Amino acid sequence: MDVNLNGKVALVTGVGPNIGGGLALMLGKYGAKVACNDIRPEVAEATVKRLERNGVEAIAIPGDVSDEEQVKTYVQKVIDTWGQIDILINGAGIDGGASVLDFEVERWNRQIAVNLTGYFLNTKWVGRQMVEKGIRGSIICLASTAGWQGRANSIGYCSSKGGIIQFVRASAMDLAPYGIRINSFTPTATQVDNPEVIAARGDNITSQSGGGPGGRGMGVPNMPGQTPRANAGGQDDQPHKTGGSADFASMSPLGELPTPTDYGHVVAWLCSDYARLITGSDYTVDSGALAKYWPYIPPAEKVGPLPLIKMDVTE
Ligand SMILES: NC(=O)c1ccc[n+]([C@@H]2O[C@H](COP(=O)([O-])OP(=O)(O)OC[C@H]3O[C@@H](n4cnc5c(N)ncnc54)[C@H](O)[C@@H]3O)[C@@H](O)[C@H]2O)c1
Repeated sequence: MDVNLNGKVALVTGVGPNIGGGLALMLGKYGAKVACNDIRPEVAEATVKRLERNGVEAIAIPGDVSDEEQVKTYVQKVIDTWGQIDILINGAGIDGGASVLDFEVERWNRQIAVNLTGYFLNTKWVGRQMVEKGIRGSIICLASTAGWQGRANSIGYCSSKGGIIQFVRASAMDLAPYGIRINSFTPTATQVDNPEVIAARGDNITSQSGGGPGGRGMGVPNMPGQTPRANAGGQDDQPHKTGGSADFASMSPLGELPTPTDYGHVVAWLCSDYARLITGSDYTVDSGALAKYWPYIPPAEKVGPLPLIKMDVTE
């Protein structure tokens, strides 16, 4: 009994080299063809190259998820290429921000437009073609632990991520009559495992977007040759006013932060036919972080989880 996405077509938005690109790769390794969207064309192209290197059939569909005409255009390009879309991963997002007392309305509007309206527009146009073609597809919306908990200096990010959880529940009701499922997936502070990123910076830094007071944005630098990130709401380069650096891994009950590969195994299963009755739900892969009673400090000595089942064959 193997999870198998053979013959399915996936569209993934926001395929940066961390989670979005990692999920695109994982869906491909489980058998899907993958259309890679990003507002930065060179990022979409870089992810296509990573997927092809791993034996996955992929195309780049650059565009802004918050612009309805662009969404319609790139959705149509996927249908023209492969005839249908069975899986949508809404992942494009802008992290960072400021306190409710300081955040400028222009940055709030942009963050909501990308993180929430973008999910709505892609769900609308991919959902419509699923209905028209009778595809009983699967849509997954990336939330964040910052959508369930209050993170300081992140008013737009937390609000948009919390909104996604309710967007999913309401959409699930609209899509269920057509056999289309929609769920959210909650990542947290993430251990980067893209070999190119690790090689480019010579270490393995955690991206702390979904984390606590030390959260500093999604934390993955531009790859060589890439233009700066479209981070209209972000503030990755500025220190936060509160909190300090924390060892996120040791604060998590299992003692190790998840990688995009850990997310991908769950997301692929959630997109598969084994999950046929799951809709309007959330799946969390966070090493136990959200379940933790807040004053509880996990013991320093832990055996740790089982080893990661890797999927990227890059040397
Ligand atoms: N990295 C983390 O620690 C973390 C934790 C929890 C949740 N998340 C969520 O997971 C998702 C992916 O995270 P990531 O680490 O891969 O982020 P990332 O910043 O590395 O990638 C996000 C991508 O979205 C793209 N993007 C921004 N605006 C866009 C737009 N208007 N249209 C199309 N693309 C656009 C960016 O260019 C970027 O490549 C995001 O929704 C994020 O909020 C991340």
